[in-house]
Amino acid sequence: MKKVIIDILKRGLKELDVKRSEEEIERLIETPPSQEMGDYAFPCFSLAEELKDEPHLIALKLKAEIGNYPQTELDDIQTAGPYINFFLDRKDMARQVVWEAINFEEKYGRGEIGKKKKIVVEYSSPNIAKPFGIGHLRSTIIGNAIANLCEFQGFKVKRINYLGDWGTQFGKLAYGYKKFGKESALKKNPIKHLLEIYIKVNRSEKNEDPSREAFKKMEGGDKELLLLWRIFKDLSLEEFEKLYKRMGIKFDEYEGESDYKRKTKLVVKELESKGLLKKSEGALIVDLEKENLGVCIIQKSDGASTYAARDIAAAISRYKKYKFNKMIYEVGQEQKLHFKQVFKILELMGYGWAKDCIHIDHGLYLGKDKKKFATRKGKTIFMEDILDQTHKLAAKEIKKRFPKLEKREIEERAEKVAIASIFYGDLKNTRTNNIVFDLDRFVSFE
Ligand code: ARG
Repeated sequence: MKKVIIDILKRGLKELDVKRSEEEIERLIETPPSQEMGDYAFPCFSLAEELKDEPHLIALKLKAEIGNYPQTELDDIQTAGPYINFFLDRKDMARQVVWEAINFEEKYGRGEIGKKKKIVVEYSSPNIAKPFGIGHLRSTIIGNAIANLCEFQGFKVKRINYLGDWGTQFGKLAYGYKKFGKESALKKNPIKHLLEIYIKVNRSEKNEDPSREAFKKMEGGDKELLLLWRIFKDLSLEEFEKLYKRMGIKFDEYEGESDYKRKTKLVVKELESKGLLKKSEGALIVDLEKENLGVCIIQKSDGASTYAARDIAAAISRYKKYKFNKMIYEVGQEQKLHFKQVFKILELMGYGWAKDCIHIDHGLYLGKDKKKFATRKGKTIFMEDILDQTHKLAAKEIKKRFPKLEKREIEERAEKVAIASIFYGDLKNTRTNNIVFDLDRFVSFE
């Protein structure tokens, strides 16, 4: 559409003996602040000197020249002071859009701005040994959508799931399992059993020393504890993969924080050699007070690695591996400061690509009572239950409308509607807002 307007303007300007390239004209074209003023506007200020005339008079003259061109795409051309406003023919435009959408089918809207560019999109990233809950649903949905959009625009996309599989809590779990765990219960419903253990340890242990001790041993390579951890991880992944499959979510790569536990030692060395590291109460930190970003702990006082250090190590490895043009982290907004710190430290380390790392955040899901969903009544909400419940609601609605459908057909449709409505129920919102998670509204057929 813009092209039509550029052509018209070019011809009109030529009549006034003004030479402007298409690029120059395009740069001048504005979008009016409201629709009553048209869809595109051309300001005439920049012509005043050359034509030795008032901008509003130039607008009138230019309009008179243009007026002779019949254009089906346009409804009207008007002047408003120094501006020429163009009104698109909405009917014609709608017809064109629909025609293209029908004819190009799944290629409609495809672009090439990402051609020859590589983009890493990290999303979902749940924590193992915990139920996949609503907390990671937004990242899964939005991250997946971003990756799809990038692919559609021609980028080469690497989809990464960065599992939370390392940290003191796994010391707690391994220690807790040795104390309270049962193999049969673990096999039957691993995530539920691990959650029970987690709660039990938290209740029974007044001090955290045994858990911390266990994690330290794990970082030191303790075979027995690491074997337990491996089992927890494999069982969790099996559960997660069932859910991803059901939702049609794919990844090119599963990474885990544990993949970087050793590389954090190199990060410490590098930070030290670059003069960025400080000691503080036995811990190692990077002081970012000057940047207004507080301090970032790189190594705890007991020598354990930190979440931030693992992220720094992961980013460096990924850049080496993918040479990405952009890396997107789709993670909740409560981690804003964390990512600002990580990106700033990478920049201070001299990595120019740090500016290509982007944290895309999102708001929380709230319950109908507007309270944080996940902690309502201290209950955890399992993703599987959400899917099952939505499926049931959808099946009920479908049955109402098509009472004669076969059961199998209803089930098939209900599953598709359920997944689509959960995705759409999220994506239709402003990403950064908190949103109410209301299944009934999600599957409202109206
Ligand atoms: N596992 C983390 C959590 O659940 C999210 C990971 C986000 N990604 C990252 N590179 N730090 O909070």
